[in-house]
Amino acid sequence: MKTAIYPGSFDPITLGHLNIIKRAAVCFDRLIVCVLVNSEKINRGMFTPEERVELIRKVVAKLPNVEVDCSSTLLAEYARQKKACTLVKGLRAVSDYENELQMALINRKLNPRLETMFLPSSAKYTYVSSSVVKEMGRYGADLSDFVPREIIEDVQKKIESGREA
Ligand code: PNS
Repeated sequence: MKTAIYPGSFDPITLGHLNIIKRAAVCFDRLIVCVLVNSEKINRGMFTPEERVELIRKVVAKLPNVEVDCSSTLLAEYARQKKACTLVKGLRAVSDYENELQMALINRKLNPRLETMFLPSSAKYTYVSSSVVKEMGRYGADLSDFVPREIIEDVQKKIESGREA
């Protein structure tokens, strides 16, 4: 069974992420979407890891070979535990590439059996990111072009509760 992992911060999952998930899910028997810690974003999270997992689960509920998980370990170690041989990463622009290439090389150094497969983002989602979603949401903008409809209300509620706090 070919297992792949789609890792990320997913704070929150966007339509761009969902597009990558759907395209990767047809390439593997099992795809694990895993919420991990990005140490560069550690104090900037809007949703807890558990909340991110719940949001992703809502969105992928109808994709039978997609699982959702979270982990605080190194990605290379997590992949070893799950017997996964491939990491899937989406590339929106050339600017994503430098950092992603470095991560791919580090992950293969840590786990030599682990390959990284890059999927180019669909043109219509190249401008979509979790940061853009949060920024648009704070200004009350329509989020339907940015996040899956199943979670729009959750994102709006979270932004509202942040305002009240
Ligand atoms: O969505 P992001 O923030 O670009 O995802 C980055 C993420 C979470 C995949 C990356 O930071 C990661 O793999 N974190 C886990 C810790 C790890 O393995 N770090 C070494 C990779 S250089």
